[in-house]
Amino acid sequence: MSLSPGAPEFADSHLIGMLDGFGLAVKYVRAEGNTLYHVDGEGREIGVLDLASGFGSLILGHNNPHIVEHAKRLLDERVAVHAQFSGYSFGIDVAAALNRIIRRELGTDEKFYGLFGNSGAEAVEIAIKHAEMDRGMRITELLETIDGNLEKAAEAVRGGTPVAQDALRALGVDSFEALAAEVRRRNTETSLRQPLFLALEGGFHGKLVSSIQLTYNSDFRTPFRALAAQARFVPSDQVELAAKIVEEERVALLDVVVRDGAVHLAEQDFPVFGAFFAEPIMGEAGIKPLSAETVRALREVCDATGIPLVADEIQSGMGRSGTFFASAHCGLVPDYIILAKALGGGIAKTGVVLVRESRYRQDFELLHTSTFGKDGFSSRIALKLLELLEADDGAAYRQAAERGAKAKAAMEAVAAEFPDVFKEVRGRGLMLGIQFHGQENSGNEVFREWAEHHVFAFAVAGYLLHEKQIRIFSTASSPDTLRFEPSIHITDEEIDRFAEALRDVARIVRAQDSDALARTGTSS
Ligand SMILES: Cc1ncc(COP(=O)(O)O)c(C=O)c1O
Repeated sequence: MSLSPGAPEFADSHLIGMLDGFGLAVKYVRAEGNTLYHVDGEGREIGVLDLASGFGSLILGHNNPHIVEHAKRLLDERVAVHAQFSGYSFGIDVAAALNRIIRRELGTDEKFYGLFGNSGAEAVEIAIKHAEMDRGMRITELLETIDGNLEKAAEAVRGGTPVAQDALRALGVDSFEALAAEVRRRNTETSLRQPLFLALEGGFHGKLVSSIQLTYNSDFRTPFRALAAQARFVPSDQVELAAKIVEEERVALLDVVVRDGAVHLAEQDFPVFGAFFAEPIMGEAGIKPLSAETVRALREVCDATGIPLVADEIQSGMGRSGTFFASAHCGLVPDYIILAKALGGGIAKTGVVLVRESRYRQDFELLHTSTFGKDGFSSRIALKLLELLEADDGAAYRQAAERGAKAKAAMEAVAAEFPDVFKEVRGRGLMLGIQFHGQENSGNEVFREWAEHHVFAFAVAGYLLHEKQIRIFSTASSPDTLRFEPSIHITDEEIDRFAEALRDVARIVRAQDSDALARTGTSS
């Protein structure tokens, strides 16, 4: 059997057909730095400036030479890629290095334990599972306390203490034994309730079975809502509303107390919520950094309720914001931190959840496993990435901040020249977004149709790819926002080229010239 390149009929045919409609189904053959290469009809290699950057996975660019060299060395040395269940977990060094960065940037001395997976969504699922195990153990501890209180009350009853009439009436029973049995029955029923999670409106946390229920975009989420625990979503500029949601969802466990010479019913708050998930810079929501006030409100709600706070830094972490953690900019000190994407150095697949010691449940290590999680190759690539980012006292972070400031200024200048076309430039470091005004009410019918189907930015992307050799996409849940997430090696010339290209797009949009943007089947 010869393995010739396949036509797209066996995988992705629908998706590729859609991309082709905008000229985006280009076949890339090579990648280096900020450039992807494809070959045109005459066999010439065409370089494309890649600003999508593996959806934020390429902080050091495509096939960074230090990472590639390291990978080659690992393979030449026949590194043990697979040695599951042995004395040395390859993730240990990565977790240790990340702990040093946590201490420096987040100002906490507490240890964070690493739990490894293979992708962003998988790491989110691990965090959900760990939070649920923690919740389950807290429920067990509560039920044990209540059992102890029931035993104390039984002893008091044996000693002649009466049961308050209103307690018997409330549960429809006529003896302490029946009351104790009913308390236990109702508490068991309560303890089997599915948990809820809290997340921010617009947030994105992946597309696996549980993580998709924390992702706000209802197109992605609702078809699968029957499969997993649900989230209640909170507007990111009104996080204090979470306290109201917690109150609305409040569930009590029944307890008993001996007071004023009688046995009375009492209540204990049942832990309804598994965790509160937030991205310090909301990526797919359209590149929206959380404000310090939002973060303060998040921490307050979580401290008041005991709900663990999870920082999803899958996209914002690994230096993109100008520090390793975007949490460092807004004062977010979370209980869990999730990393993936760029942690794999642009060539490996890895993800990790870091859990604060005081919230960590060691038994989780015996319950959760993954064949590929923390494998020898990915872990050592991740370690190399951390070494490169941390080198020269964090020169890479300074570079991300400096390049980002330059790019943001250039994008803001364009937005200021075309305020009728662009709504806003947002973001920090090399996690930037530029948002178009919606085209829903455009005078141009094609623009209106693209807006209605959330593909206006795809048309812009097709134009930029073919006319300017620039690859860029919109964010998943804000279809009018172009995401700018190149590597730290983006040059002045590349930033200027992008700004000029944006000006051309703006002129076309201002002229409502859909023909200039439209292209089909021009993929090579
Ligand atoms: C903040 C955030 N969380 C989770 C994910 C999911 O990661 P993955 O695509 O690796 O599953 C993404 C991906 O874009 C993300 O940006």
